[in-house]
Amino acid sequence: MSTVDPQARSFQEGPATYMLPVSPSLIYLHFPSLSQSSHQNDAQEWNRLDEMHKGIDAFLGHKLSYAPLSEDAKRILEIGWAPHNFLISLAHSLTYRSGSGAWAIQAAETYPDATVTAVDLSPLPPRPLPKNVTFLKLNIVEEELPFEPASFDIIHTRFLLTHLPKWEDVVQRVTALLKPGGWLLVEDIDHIALDDNGGAGPGVQKFYNIYHAFAATQNVDHMVGSKLEGTLKRLNLFSIVNGIEVKCPFHGGSNDPSLHALGRTMRKSLITVYKDLNPRLVAAGLTPEVQQGFFQEAGDRARGLYVKLYMTWSRKK
Ligand SMILES: C[S@@+](CC[C@H](N)C(=O)[O-])C[C@H]1O[C@@H](n2cnc3c(N)ncnc32)[C@H](O)[C@@H]1O
Repeated sequence: MSTVDPQARSFQEGPATYMLPVSPSLIYLHFPSLSQSSHQNDAQEWNRLDEMHKGIDAFLGHKLSYAPLSEDAKRILEIGWAPHNFLISLAHSLTYRSGSGAWAIQAAETYPDATVTAVDLSPLPPRPLPKNVTFLKLNIVEEELPFEPASFDIIHTRFLLTHLPKWEDVVQRVTALLKPGGWLLVEDIDHIALDDNGGAGPGVQKFYNIYHAFAATQNVDHMVGSKLEGTLKRLNLFSIVNGIEVKCPFHGGSNDPSLHALGRTMRKSLITVYKDLNPRLVAAGLTPEVQQGFFQEAGDRARGLYVKLYMTWSRKK
């Protein structure tokens, strides 16, 4: 994978570019002098993903999914896992059972007799993992998944399809790896922040016009979340397709404490990630003024901004 490293952050280069920072290796976090350029800022991306996982985990009541997952799952696949931050996960371990920020690790702890395979284009962090987690560095857009068809009980992917070209093809390829009766768990967002009245303010709209237009040049659909349930049904590969839409309020304001916290986490996360975007997006017209327009409206409590998160759980025929 070739990368370009502006401002000490790494981004994937080339067509069908993943727009968010990629992590070269945690070793550079601890020993930055080993790296050609400093990758210390990647801690920011790990922290961001850990915080989102923590928020969603609390929202789900510390379950892996709403799906009625079988207790005897033996093979689990996670695609696009977040290599999580050791210090944060250590802090989590002092406060709640799982001791982990990442879904794959949580799955490995929930199913100690299962094998959990985690796939990502970012390399494996050099830290102890549960014995039943296996990591495979792989670009799912460019490479075949080297697994037997119908061999997994559970497959999970979160916040990945919204970054990939031809995401429906990816869903079909991945579903072929599920056993009949196995569960496909897909979670994603729509990349748009809406006001209380369901519209977007001028600053937010301008930001996303550029973001979406660039994504379209890459064949990437940044509104995957709301299409998930319908697409999964239309594919006719599943006996059950369930989906929920979660409105995550940027400034909290929900009676449900976990949703209140999740909304605030999502706001912080989007602001963090939209501050440093892939240089190709900057070249496509994303100026600091446009970014500022988004941040200003996102910070305005009176607007009641929210982002929609979609969770689906589908059982293969
Ligand atoms: C936004 S992060 C979400 C990570 C994790 N699922 C979570 O919920 O925190 C997307 C992840 O997908 C990985 N990724 C992006 N494009 C990929 C590709 N083509 N093949 C494999 N992994 C990819 C990134 O490296 C990153 O770890």
